[in-house]
Amino acid sequence: MINQHNNIIWGKKCTCGQECFILQNKYHPWDEDVDMEITIVCNKCNNKVTIDRESASLYYDNKIYSYFKDIKGHVLDIGCGGGFLSRFILNNLMPCKVYGLDVDEGCIEELNDLAREDRFNFNKSNIKNIKTDYKDVHIDYIVCRDVLMFIENIDNFIDDISNTTAQGLRFMGWYIPTNKRIKNNVSPDEIALKLKERGWSVNVEYLDWYKSGYFINCDR
Ligand SMILES: C[S@@+](CC[C@H](N)C(=O)[O-])C[C@H]1O[C@@H](n2cnc3c(N)ncnc32)[C@H](O)[C@@H]1O
Repeated sequence: MINQHNNIIWGKKCTCGQECFILQNKYHPWDEDVDMEITIVCNKCNNKVTIDRESASLYYDNKIYSYFKDIKGHVLDIGCGGGFLSRFILNNLMPCKVYGLDVDEGCIEELNDLAREDRFNFNKSNIKNIKTDYKDVHIDYIVCRDVLMFIENIDNFIDDISNTTAQGLRFMGWYIPTNKRIKNNVSPDEIALKLKERGWSVNVEYLDWYKSGYFINCDR
């Protein structure tokens, strides 16, 4: 069961390769006006490791990306926003194609660099249209980050993605049922159960380094 918490990782890889980090609940590494810098002693080589906001931000990004490293083939990034996941997948994982879907027209500007790639396709659409939008498109994996809580009908969504995806689903997000912006109150455990009922092999991991975070991994 999810343990709601406010912790976010603040870390950096030491030159010896050891991961050096703290969990703290004051600052987000993506907040540009944050001026936090900490120095910790690496518990492998005893070197001092200074972690400023920039290195903490890079470390946080890479920590998220580490959950998506097995993605390949044709990938659909739902609620792709400015392309945080799509950009990583395209630039690092050599997929055949990444389809980004988002309802917000403002994404187009942020996705400018990706739009120049033949291997990227942006679709300004609503998640509830997945079934029709991608009915003739082969999709191996569906990925998303921080989107599931904005979906109004989770049951329809799970039916649609189960019929759209050949191989796997990778969902990262947060679960804070008291948050005013959420559109459903379905917990990660309940989502996992619904996925299992549709025949997926599911694993849920609760993330102590990502504010009230979870990661759902599904394979056929
Ligand atoms: C918190 S942002 C996450 C963006 C991106 N996944 C990332 O990791 O940076 C949530 C995104 O989901 C999109 N979104 C929310 N509800 C949606 C819906 N019903 N259909 C399509 N996109 C939706 C929003 O427009 C927004 O870009």
